[in-house]
Amino acid sequence: MTPGSDADAASSAAPPPADHARDPPPAERELRVLLLEDNTPHAELVEHFLRESGLKFRLVRVETREDFIAQIEQLGPDMILSDYALPAFDGYAALTIAKERVPNTPFIFVTGTMGEEVAIETLKSGATDYVLKTRLARLGPAVHRALREAADRRERQRAEDKLRRSLEQLRALTTYLQYVREEERTRIAREVHDELGQALTGLKLDMSWLASRLPKTSPELAAKARTMTEHIDETIQTVRRIATELRPGILDSLGLVAAIEWQANEFQTRTGIPCQVRSTVADTEWEHDFTTVFFRIFQETLTNIIRHAKATRVEVRLNEEAGHLVLVVKDNGRGISEEEIAGTKSLGLVGMRERAMLIGGEVSLQGRPGKGTSVALRVPLPGPKAGDSPAPAP
Ligand SMILES: Nc1ncnc2c1ncn2[C@@H]1O[C@H](COP(=O)(O)OP(=O)(O)OP(=O)(O)O)[C@@H](O)[C@H]1O
Ligand SMILES: [Mg+2]
Repeated sequence: MTPGSDADAASSAAPPPADHARDPPPAERELRVLLLEDNTPHAELVEHFLRESGLKFRLVRVETREDFIAQIEQLGPDMILSDYALPAFDGYAALTIAKERVPNTPFIFVTGTMGEEVAIETLKSGATDYVLKTRLARLGPAVHRALREAADRRERQRAEDKLRRSLEQLRALTTYLQYVREEERTRIAREVHDELGQALTGLKLDMSWLASRLPKTSPELAAKARTMTEHIDETIQTVRRIATELRPGILDSLGLVAAIEWQANEFQTRTGIPCQVRSTVADTEWEHDFTTVFFRIFQETLTNIIRHAKATRVEVRLNEEAGHLVLVVKDNGRGISEEEIAGTKSLGLVGMRERAMLIGGEVSLQGRPGKGTSVALRVPLPGPKAGDSPAPAP
């Protein structure tokens, strides 16, 4: 038995595998080295050269497959050193086991003979390095380099995990913000409509009461009362428009298809560009979040047409295809370019894609120069609405 080794622990009843994942990094503690070697003098030499190289470590030596596997679990090695040819077990099989169980632990062959081809083969199979027993002075540097590389890999892995986690958080935050924003818009729309609308209607009634009681002898007062009533009517219209723009009530009362038809009609009235909607879909009471996202994306495509397309005709198609709701908006304008589709500077298209992703869908754009742009939104159909949907967790 090599000094400091405790191979006998391997054959005693193995305790449940230790959780080494939370151990401090090897740089801050004694290194744990697992050595697969049947020859005691060789093992002592290996240990000697490791100490020579300045490494602080605890070495556990094993000779059999069972002990090797047990110590991988129990010791949680930072480094595996293995002979290649063993009487009861072979180094190549040990490498396979180690790669399966502790893929991030460096594995170095320390062997009497190893042909070049075999050496290359083992490196291809995941061995970190190999050191010939006739050149054990190389062992220290090889171990140090392997440890450094492992630390770098761990660091990279940590950075990648962190990045992935923050992307997930960002997405969750986006979902939450979209939700809060829509809730707020709905609430403000309702308040503007109800509170201001009712106050103005009251004012209008008072005004007509007052107008009917004005002395007939004063036509200026009657004229003033008339213009004031007209003003109130205009203000009532403005309030209605603001409330509808914040959130079209039709979306909640009549549903998505009706809201899309209504919005297309509004677009046509406002811009003078004919906008035809063809739908083969019956309005269903889909989830509130689903209809909102779908409708907002449609609004953004129309806004883009007004701002960029120079179109004279717009066609909207709404179909159900293999469990998906598909909306295609085609204009006959200048045609979006590939660079504009791939661009990430403006937020409209980015927002459309993000929104679509929230409901598991995707947006694809196609432009033909001088012929027009086609925007397709494809979203898996949700089940019909099941009560009010709760707020997603922030
Ligand atoms: N229907 C369209 N026809 C032609 N070009 C378009 C059309 N829709 C979008 N584009 C082009 O794609 C670009 C990106 O659109 P996007 O909606 O992301 O940005 P934007 O409308 O310029 O700004 P915003 O972030 O305010 O929406 C536009 O700047 C425009 O050049
Ligand atoms: Mg835009």
